[in-house]
Amino acid sequence: MLDGKNILIGITGGIAAYKICELIRMYKRSGANVRVICTPNALNFVTKLTLQNLSQNEVGIEEFSISDFKPEHISFADEADIMVIAPATANTIGKVANGICDNLLTSVVCAFRKPIIIAPAMNCGMWENIFVQNNIDKLSAAGMCIMEPEEGFLACGSNGVGRLCSLDKIYEKTVEFLKQKKYLSGKKFVITAGGTIEAIDSVRYISNYSSGKMGIALADIAFEMGADVTLITTVDTEKPYRIIRVKSAFDMKSAVEAEFDKADYIIMAAAVADYRAKNIADHKLKKTDAETFSVEFVKNPDILKGLFELKTNALSNCSGQSAIKSPIIVGFCAESENLIENAKEKISKKGCDYLIANDISRKDIGFSSDYNEVTILKKDGTMKHLPRASKREIATKIIEEIYE
Ligand code: PMT
Repeated sequence: MLDGKNILIGITGGIAAYKICELIRMYKRSGANVRVICTPNALNFVTKLTLQNLSQNEVGIEEFSISDFKPEHISFADEADIMVIAPATANTIGKVANGICDNLLTSVVCAFRKPIIIAPAMNCGMWENIFVQNNIDKLSAAGMCIMEPEEGFLACGSNGVGRLCSLDKIYEKTVEFLKQKKYLSGKKFVITAGGTIEAIDSVRYISNYSSGKMGIALADIAFEMGADVTLITTVDTEKPYRIIRVKSAFDMKSAVEAEFDKADYIIMAAAVADYRAKNIADHKLKKTDAETFSVEFVKNPDILKGLFELKTNALSNCSGQSAIKSPIIVGFCAESENLIENAKEKISKKGCDYLIANDISRKDIGFSSDYNEVTILKKDGTMKHLPRASKREIATKIIEEIYE
């Protein structure tokens, strides 16, 4: 099942390290070539000899310990198709989330540009710790796949969430990644994410609560499926695909339109401000004695609607020619009431091929949440509801739906 695949396992210093011996056997039985890197602390729980025998490969521990023409952290990262860090301690999670490279394992993760699965295991108090959770959020936002720990009796004697998730789950997730068909290879996706920033003066602006998570999940999934991805975003993020940073709706419009001719799919997940300040002061506006302060706003251009117009023009200019390249245009629809009714009106007004409607009045989905629940409207009038799931899962289903 995994013939020809190279799996790199990173083991850190937790009691669940002994379980990874069985995970290595599972991968090996499926035909994978397995290499193992341990943190020095991992060797308190499992021996190098055991791991070497099971993986039938030399185990990496200290940086630069094997003489080679390539530095170790680069050669490990180059060879593998996927990296699985299990168990991942709070300490290693913290280092990876903050770009710290103080051993071979953390250096390899930093250089790794392919899928990474992280399976944390630790005491339940450590798992609930706010800093650990923030680090987990960072890793998840960077596109790493977190296999949440399970609830039960822990080796430390406590009972709670912290046990390494089952090896079957880690194995299945690995297979899922490695078997993922690169069926978007050769397709160009342009995706927008985040709330636009509309300046009022040199230090103040208006914006909205969009975190960019939905658009980034779409970009991550499209990239993992083999697409050539350009993410146009207001959010500061590092990804292995092309990113164009923008601020205002005007910046976003120019960036999206510049990509129009090359794109097969344009997905507008960004929350674009409908209005901008009529006059932007080039200095900080002074506070006055008046109790009120007014800013006059004017309408921003509608980027999505403009794309439909570009598409209509492109199609009519090319009539008679056989191969016309015009992108599939996907909009999002953020509503706090009458979701479907308003979405139906919006899809016909904006003219996009698909409109993804989500309810932004709910706290458990939509703005800033890691989850969403959406209804996909197609221009032929049909609809498909996707129940609440992680933004990555929703993104996968949206891409599968729009891919023709
Ligand atoms: O970023 P997250 O925190 O993950 O939150 C995700 C999200 C809620 C922002 C996302 O799922 C979403 O709904 N994005 C669209 C937000 C929005 O602007 O919706 P709208 O209904 O106001 O606009 C409809 C569509 O027109 C959108 O595709 C929007 O990008 C586009 N638009 C809007 C205004 C404008 N001037 N130009 C546009 O292109």
